[in-house]
Amino acid sequence: MADRLTTRPGWMSVVCLLGLAAILIHCVTAIPADYAAKRAALIKAEKSLRTGGTGSSLSHDEQIVDKILMLEKRKLIEATRMNGSNFAARYNFLNMTARADMEATRGFQIIKKMPKGGVLHVHDEAITSIDWLVSNVTYRDNCYMCVDSSDFRVNFHFYKSPPQDAACVWRLVSAFRGESGDAAAFDKTLHNNLSMVVADPATAYPDLNTTWTRFLAYFAQVEGLVLYAPVFADYLWEGMLQFREDNVQYLEIRGLLPQVYELDGTVHDADWVLNVYKQGVAHFVQQYPDFTGARFIKTSLRFKNSSDILSDVKEAMRLYLQNPGFVVGFDLVGPENYLHPLIYYVDDLLYPSKQNPPVKLPYFFHAGETDWQGSAVDYNLVDALLLNTTRIGHGYALYKHPLLKDRIRKQGIAVEVNPISNQVLKLVDDLRNHPAAALIAENFPLVISSDDPAVWGAAPLSHDFYVTFMTMIGEDAGLATLKQLAINSLRYSAMQPMEIQKAVTQWKMKWDSFIQQVIRDFTSSDWGGEDRVTDEL
Ligand SMILES: *[C@@H]1O[C@H](CO)[C@@H](O)[C@H](O)[C@H]1NC(C)=O
Ligand SMILES: *[C@@H]1O[C@H](CO)[C@@H](O)[C@H](O)[C@H]1NC(C)=O
Ligand SMILES: *[C@@H]1O[C@H](CO)[C@@H](O)[C@H](O)[C@H]1NC(C)=O
Ligand SMILES: *[C@@H]1O[C@H](CO)[C@@H](O)[C@H](O)[C@H]1NC(C)=O
Ligand SMILES: *[C@@H]1O[C@H](CO)[C@@H](O)[C@H](O)[C@H]1NC(C)=O
Ligand SMILES: *[C@@H]1O[C@H](CO)[C@@H](O)[C@H](O)[C@H]1NC(C)=O
Ligand SMILES: *[C@@H]1O[C@H](CO)[C@@H](O)[C@H](O)[C@H]1NC(C)=O
Ligand SMILES: [Zn+2]
Repeated sequence: MADRLTTRPGWMSVVCLLGLAAILIHCVTAIPADYAAKRAALIKAEKSLRTGGTGSSLSHDEQIVDKILMLEKRKLIEATRMNGSNFAARYNFLNMTARADMEATRGFQIIKKMPKGGVLHVHDEAITSIDWLVSNVTYRDNCYMCVDSSDFRVNFHFYKSPPQDAACVWRLVSAFRGESGDAAAFDKTLHNNLSMVVADPATAYPDLNTTWTRFLAYFAQVEGLVLYAPVFADYLWEGMLQFREDNVQYLEIRGLLPQVYELDGTVHDADWVLNVYKQGVAHFVQQYPDFTGARFIKTSLRFKNSSDILSDVKEAMRLYLQNPGFVVGFDLVGPENYLHPLIYYVDDLLYPSKQNPPVKLPYFFHAGETDWQGSAVDYNLVDALLLNTTRIGHGYALYKHPLLKDRIRKQGIAVEVNPISNQVLKLVDDLRNHPAAALIAENFPLVISSDDPAVWGAAPLSHDFYVTFMTMIGEDAGLATLKQLAINSLRYSAMQPMEIQKAVTQWKMKWDSFIQQVIRDFTSSDWGGEDRVTDEL
């Protein structure tokens, strides 16, 4: 969108503010033409540096959609900046009110419909909504639950007959639900038991440890549901449905390939589990040919000892070689702050490159998900780079490392930015201060992703895209930046170049029809029509 100050040289009006007590005085100042020209040139040059900055050749229709988005964005931002109104996107995402306020905006509704490309950073047990777990999985036969006497939270498991456990007494969910007398209310308590969303996150999660403890507890709680063999494939299927519904066409799932169990006690190994992923994805793409597909990044846990990690690296090499085009690499997960840094495992991680001939195992390391500058965990960024990581998970601390940043940019290593995750897990409170705002301003290779959307009740990608739009790309950046972020998510994927091309073609068709859809919606009487928008801007 054209900036009024930069497109009309000569004398022009500027709104200036003199804060005098609570009185705001608007005054009009004249700007000399030569100054205005220099100013316009400087602003234009800087804008061209940002993500989507040079691809500013939006079509006529795209410009209309841009205006539709920007009209509301500017209003919300200006009303807050000038009049102290409430700006929902600056609150913690766990705040239910803020979330509802964001969802009520036109911007959110448009971004939800926007084809956003792929999600390149998401974890296996946090992709499908808690709503589905409660409304579908807990209604299945043989689903048991118990309320843990230590934290009063529910755990779930499928059993033929449950074990005796005094600290957590197992009974059928259907029995609890029947006794409650109000299935809907009961289901709501189950939902609240699993979700991190609360009315007042600052009270519920006062510090980092409480937050991480609660976050990790989610995984322990849902494992008994998700890792039951008949559920496991459905969980993936439903997850892909939800991503597709959120207008995401491609996924790279990081997963542990944990043991999946049957009612009779049989457990399935990693190859069986991987096969469920492979077949599930293939079947899904067959049923929904507009969905590009999914790839798998094998993960291991960074609390393991070095010899266990070495076996996991070898296992990942084997899976990578045996499943070309599906298993795309390896990563280490778990709280970076207090678990082992990459350097602790350096021999194990160098193992593939030390083989004769060297074996390629692409890495996708979580690195720099910290605000502890100069610490061992901060230096995970150094090791990720030296170990030739393909992308960096989070890279939150990267802005404090000019040399690493420069090399990472030159090598085209994309950073996977997960704004809401970083906020919920307390790296940054107000996303306007997220360091990726500076990276986007310089078109750094990056993608927006969602990490563990189910845990905090986020949509697969729309909420992360929306908060990025509202808080991290600037008041004067709109559709061109969002479009580039969507393209980035395919371009920096682990697909082969030909597959990326095909995916971008699929995306472009969706994009064009999205643009037409928004224009149709907008010119309908609801939103007032193109003329009104053009007038107001
Ligand atoms: C601030 O409030 C005043 C008075 O209600 C209103 O006239 C003005 O348009 C508002 N400004 C913004 C930027 O919302
Ligand atoms: C939650 O967000 C709303 C804005 O939507 C805000 O007014 C309210 O103060 C926030 N609550 C807390 C506890 O921060
Ligand atoms: C759960 O979802 C599956 C499909 O994923 C469906 O076949 C089944 O009927 C659903 N069960 C319930 C109880 O809703
Ligand atoms: C979890 O659900 C159980 C059973 O409905 C309930 O007794 C308990 O209070 C809930 N706990 C939390 C923390 O919501
Ligand atoms: C974090 O909290 C858990 C449980 O609340 C506690 O057991 C643990 O010691 C705490 N860890 C740290 C590092 O404070
Ligand atoms: C590593 O941990 C495993 C348990 O996961 C244990 O069996 C093994 O002995 C440990 N190895 C070393 C060298 O400490
Ligand atoms: C990283 O890449 C460089 C350049 O291709 C190569 O020399 C080096 O061996 C690689 N290191 C690892 C750990 O793969
Ligand atoms: Zn992650």
